[in-house]
Amino acid sequence: MALPSRHQLTAALLLFFAALAAISLSAISEKYDGLLPPLNPAYLDRALPIENRIEDLLSHMTLEEKVGQMALVEHGSISPDEAARFSIGGILSGGGGKPEGENTPRGWARMVAAYDKASRSTRLKIPVLYGADANHGQGNVPGATIFPHFLGLGAANDEALVERVAQATARESRALGILWIYSPTLDLPRDIRWGRVYEAFGDDPKRVSVLGAAFVHGMQKEQVVATAKHYIGLGSMRWGSSTSDTPAYRIDQGNTPADEAALRQEYLPPFRAAVDAGVGSVMVGLNTWGPQKLSASTYLITDVLKGELGFNGFVVSDWYGVYEVATSTRESAVRGINAGIDMVMLPYDYDVFVREVTDAVRRGEIPQSRIDDAVRRILRQKFAFGLFEARPAPDLSILGSSEHRTLAREVAGKSLVLLKDTSHVLPIATTTRTIRVAGSAADNTGLQSGGWTIEWQGVDGNVLPGATSILAGIKRQAGTSLVQYAKDGAFAEKDIAEIGIAVVGEKPYAEGLGDNELPRISREDRQAIARMRGSVQTLVVVIIAGRPLIVTDDIPNWDAVVMAWLPGSEGDGFADVLFGHVPFTGTLPLPWPARVRQLPMNPDGTTSNGSAPLFPRGYGLKTSQ
Ligand code: BGC
Ligand code: BGC
Repeated sequence: MALPSRHQLTAALLLFFAALAAISLSAISEKYDGLLPPLNPAYLDRALPIENRIEDLLSHMTLEEKVGQMALVEHGSISPDEAARFSIGGILSGGGGKPEGENTPRGWARMVAAYDKASRSTRLKIPVLYGADANHGQGNVPGATIFPHFLGLGAANDEALVERVAQATARESRALGILWIYSPTLDLPRDIRWGRVYEAFGDDPKRVSVLGAAFVHGMQKEQVVATAKHYIGLGSMRWGSSTSDTPAYRIDQGNTPADEAALRQEYLPPFRAAVDAGVGSVMVGLNTWGPQKLSASTYLITDVLKGELGFNGFVVSDWYGVYEVATSTRESAVRGINAGIDMVMLPYDYDVFVREVTDAVRRGEIPQSRIDDAVRRILRQKFAFGLFEARPAPDLSILGSSEHRTLAREVAGKSLVLLKDTSHVLPIATTTRTIRVAGSAADNTGLQSGGWTIEWQGVDGNVLPGATSILAGIKRQAGTSLVQYAKDGAFAEKDIAEIGIAVVGEKPYAEGLGDNELPRISREDRQAIARMRGSVQTLVVVIIAGRPLIVTDDIPNWDAVVMAWLPGSEGDGFADVLFGHVPFTGTLPLPWPARVRQLPMNPDGTTSNGSAPLFPRGYGLKTSQ
């Protein structure tokens, strides 16, 4: 057989490559409905200015792809392949939104990576933005460092400390591939009956502005997009006005009276500070402004936030929030987007959303320019936060690292507020003969961490990997003292101990499920205190709760009282202060009411009925050390 000539060989090779090209092109065009990916697109050129990259990318996008970018879907409702097929802009884990398989940092990183990878394999390779709540560390993830909830940070009132907490939280999130966090909360809680009081820094716009901006700086310095929420007026809803159909909700998702003066003097300054700090996104609340759902307010979103405050990041709606503005999903989406919502936290039916919104645009119900503006805003953050560049493999050992736990311990100590110490029992000497410890929160890292920990509603028990309970911290630092523990306060010993510490308070809750018409120490804990009272000379009560509780009638029976808020995973931080290695320095970030009938509190810290609060905002005894 004669050998093929050089010409014949070349021709055969050419034919082969042509066939290969035809096959792959048809595969691509089948997948993208005949659309080819642009060749060497300018938007992938890192050297170009971001605004040019945005315009170039926008010019290649179909309407469906643009609308897909505007959708934020809960991971449980969509697979990575579907998210890629619909060009979905954001995926989120809600509270407790864990991976299907292994609920470990590795399992989380794999889950997030699957969405990321799928999004990068699409025609335009627009990376998906994965978001989660991380309001006290990356609380969803077992093994993460759990910092005190924001109200404790407000009590510590230390800008530099908040910035470091945000940085550590961002690093633990980034290690998982979560580059977008729904924090900081800038709400101003004026009614302790609300189930979200602990998520806020306090009710003083000044303190909240300073700490909120510090949080934004810290988080974004680590290349994670922060979210200022909830825009706007959250914390000033009227008791009983909740619009939720869940019966337990009494004030959450309720009505904020439309008050222009309060808007400007109270609610806006923290958001202005966050915008000035360069916050990448703002989340719109589930409350109403007067009769109107926030998500439908063109005035507040477009005129005030984007116009007056000059916000150039993107506005995201809250959980299902857009769908509450009208009776049909289509009409709701049209109104929300036209009012200025850029990304819609659906969080479920993405296919309906993309179909209805593209149709509404084609029929002129939403101007094309509004869609382009929304997509520009979303892409701007994706470019600015380096999503289009390749990412180094994450180092999971950073989750719950000793460096972060040491920081959480420091913050827990600084967040404590000493409310009473008539007999100067604090700090406790490590040579005390016997210290008795009781109460439901003494040996329970779940309770001391509160809601938004592992699960949306938090967890009950010592189930946080690597965490230290308050009792464990006390035992570790008690020196030569004998530490005895009985959760229910019933000690077998018949003698009287010098000191009793009752660690008591509330069970974890989140959002409207924590609305409570009479926030007080649980019955079980009141019984434990009563039992313990007779077996100790001096009684120290430590309150673990997400808000001030009504304790007016109980306090006279207690020798010392410490408000510990929800201190998080590091119980040693409490013991550091209890034994005097660190002084008490925290102050109340909001006034502490004496009675429920004083609610809501006024902005100046006075009460509704004019009687004095139990403790004013800013109160806190100091110990020297
Ligand atoms: C809450 C937000 C939270 C979102 C995602 C909503 O119900 O109001 O604060 O960021 O869920 O979990
Ligand atoms: C989610 C939360 C969300 C809430 C709203 C829960 O199932 O986990 O993140 O805020 O629903 O109702």
